Amino acid sequence: MNKVRIAPSLLAADFGNLQRDVEMVNLSAADWHHIDVMDGVFVPNISFGMPVVKSIAAAAKKPLDVHLMIIEPDRYIKEFVQLGASVLTVHYEACAHLHRTIQLIKAEGIKAGVAINPHTPIHLLEDIISEVDLVCIMSVNPGYGGQKFIENTYAKVKALKKLIINKKSKALIEIDGGVNADNTPLLVEAGADVLVAGSFVFKASDPLAVIGNIAALANP
Ligand code: DX5
Ligand code: ZN
Repeated sequence: MNKVRIAPSLLAADFGNLQRDVEMVNLSAADWHHIDVMDGVFVPNISFGMPVVKSIAAAAKKPLDVHLMIIEPDRYIKEFVQLGASVLTVHYEACAHLHRTIQLIKAEGIKAGVAINPHTPIHLLEDIISEVDLVCIMSVNPGYGGQKFIENTYAKVKALKKLIINKKSKALIEIDGGVNADNTPLLVEAGADVLVAGSFVFKASDPLAVIGNIAALANP
């Protein structure tokens, strides 16, 4: 089995000490830095924009996994690539021409991901799954950190895994929202390849140890 990657979400970091928190992730067992960009339109919250992503990128030593919770993401693809994104994920629900958006991202030479909200069924990905490098299953409604994990996620991970195998896709399965030490082993068993964790990491007294702990639980 491939290594299950851990991607701490900097949304839960201390923004007054962002560099310190990014450097902590650099030293940790994490694989990617997860960066949540929200526009206050697609989701009911605004997180941060390009200048903050630039500061994160300057301190980060691991690949940047950028999760765009914004409408009309095509307008900003090149800018996020210039800022150093290795993975750029757009929302299924925010893209009228998802196939085109995915091709635009791939043309930049980086990984293209699609995220689906909790209400969006897996079967809607049938005709795009061969094109994407990653599917992010939202296990909370996007917009905020610290929400409760939605249990239906396990069934979705299993359904997505089947679809990926049937269509001979190479897409990674990423889980985002409410990930913790309790659900990590179950998500991995269901087929998850990348686990995003925000509050569980950054609200802990020893974030470095927590990342090491989830990484070990995810890779027994
Ligand atoms: C939610 C974001 C998540 C969030 C996860 O809209 O996409 O990445 O930061 O945070 P936790 O792990 O606290 O649910
Ligand atoms: Zn996210």
